[in-house]
Amino acid sequence: MAAFNIGRKKFMITLPNGFARRALQVSASTALILGAGFNASYVARAADAGDIAEGQRLFMQKGNCQACHGWAGDGRKTDNQMPDGANLRETKLDRAAFVMIVKCGLPGTGMPPFDRLAYSDGRCFGKKDADLKAQGIRMADPPATLQPREVELLAEFAFAKIIGKGAMDRAKCADYWGSASEVCNELK
Ligand code: HEC
Repeated sequence: MAAFNIGRKKFMITLPNGFARRALQVSASTALILGAGFNASYVARAADAGDIAEGQRLFMQKGNCQACHGWAGDGRKTDNQMPDGANLRETKLDRAAFVMIVKCGLPGTGMPPFDRLAYSDGRCFGKKDADLKAQGIRMADPPATLQPREVELLAEFAFAKIIGKGAMDRAKCADYWGSASEVCNELK
């Protein structure tokens, strides 16, 4: 059992089962709502098509989220060798929690931290590399690190095209890729 403190909130993580991770997320969102720990740098504004397209490229290429989460974000990973990523289409996370998890990863799972400085200065769960080590937590390496702005673009894309959008189907697929892509033919 590992304990993470965010402000006055405590994150309990049991390793290695996925069960307590849920508690982590719930507490993360709660902490965010209470304003107890993170700076949600995002200011609500209309989603921009160019930003969404850039976010999609980051999801498929630089961040390679699709390797573990599937190209549709539905958890059907495109790389068999990778850990099973969550079904992001069904996630209940809000935007601030999504951004936090992408930057900090999820300790105790295969979700890597994408912020280059994630565990350097306490910005993630108030923990540094040495704390994780002392607690026997090893974070997976990300395919690439991402700038804060790139994480915001990913969020822009994810909330426009994946999160809360229901199962992928042929019509959504054409919209997703901007044209009827071959992968859409497998869908109903
Ligand atoms: C190396 C594999 C891997 C990569 C690459 C990866 N993830 Fe993950 N991700 C995971 C795993 C594993 C989990 C936790 C799955 C579980 O236990 O439910 C996870 C969980 C998440 C969650 C929490 C979802 C929830 O509701 O629990 C979010 C959000 C997320 N990933 C977003 C991303 C984004 C965005 C990218 C790309 C920038 C990405 N991930 C890249 C493996 C990966």
